[in-house]
Amino acid sequence: MTGTKRTKADTPLVEMRDMCISFGGVHAVDHVSVDLHAGEVVGLLGHNGAGKSTLIKMLSGAYKADSGEIRINGERVEIHNPRDARRHNIETIYQTLALADNLDAASNLFLGRELVTPFGLVDEDAMEAETRKIMARLNPNFAKFSEPVSALSGGQRQSVAIARAVYFNARILIMDEPTAALGPHETQMVSELITQLKSEGIGIFLISHDIHDVMELCDRASVMKNGKLVGTVDVDDVTDDDLLGMIILGKQPGQASATEG
Ligand SMILES: Nc1ncnc2c1ncn2[C@@H]1O[C@H](COP(=O)(O)OP(=O)(O)OP(=O)(O)O)[C@@H](O)[C@H]1O
Ligand SMILES: [Mg+2]
Repeated sequence: MTGTKRTKADTPLVEMRDMCISFGGVHAVDHVSVDLHAGEVVGLLGHNGAGKSTLIKMLSGAYKADSGEIRINGERVEIHNPRDARRHNIETIYQTLALADNLDAASNLFLGRELVTPFGLVDEDAMEAETRKIMARLNPNFAKFSEPVSALSGGQRQSVAIARAVYFNARILIMDEPTAALGPHETQMVSELITQLKSEGIGIFLISHDIHDVMELCDRASVMKNGKLVGTVDVDDVTDDDLLGMIILGKQPGQASATEG
């Protein structure tokens, strides 16, 4: 494909090509390539220490890659810090959600980016109105607008974190284990949020240890082992056991190929 003019439809939203990063002598990420299209969810799977978080931290600007290239909508970009990532509409939701527990949903949504009145005062009413608007779109059942977020369930807290990312124009969302600490009902709430974000054309990298979540929510899955990419598969083409074989044994599923195009 290199060198040919691609149409918008087949240009990925994100391409990470041949990414490498080492810590001391350890190749945490070793020549890994993954991509993501608009409206797509790509799962990142692999054992503890496989390199999943490190890979996406090179996209979120938490780490600078030793080598490799990142393309957004086909354009080569340099991401050296979180500000660079945000400029490219990349938002990250870490498992530890970084919410201010004593503040309500609106104050969290606008934390550090508060709306102000023409007189320079924090505009609580406008922030709450905007929060209600975005929640109506993302999670219509959300009702806890005046409580501090410490009083919210895990799924409701995820909603606030996701609303914050989306309000500030995330086109590329990175979610590191979003359902790890949640019960079934809460997990369902987050699944519905992800489906909604997909329908709005947002691309999502979803790190998960839960094969069922990946099978249900993802279009494709990329499996890593010891810093290397085992392969990328269409979830419709594989079984749970195929994915397990990739994760545990680094083995290719019979019908799927590890190479792209
Ligand atoms: N800042 C760092 N300094 C040194 N080593 C690091 C650093 N960050 C990650 N590593 C190492 O890189 C490797 C990959 O770690 P990473 O956190 O990416 O794994 P992971 O796939 O996200 O695992 P988990 O499922 O446990 O979250 C590990 O060996 C880890 O110890
Ligand atoms: Mg991790």
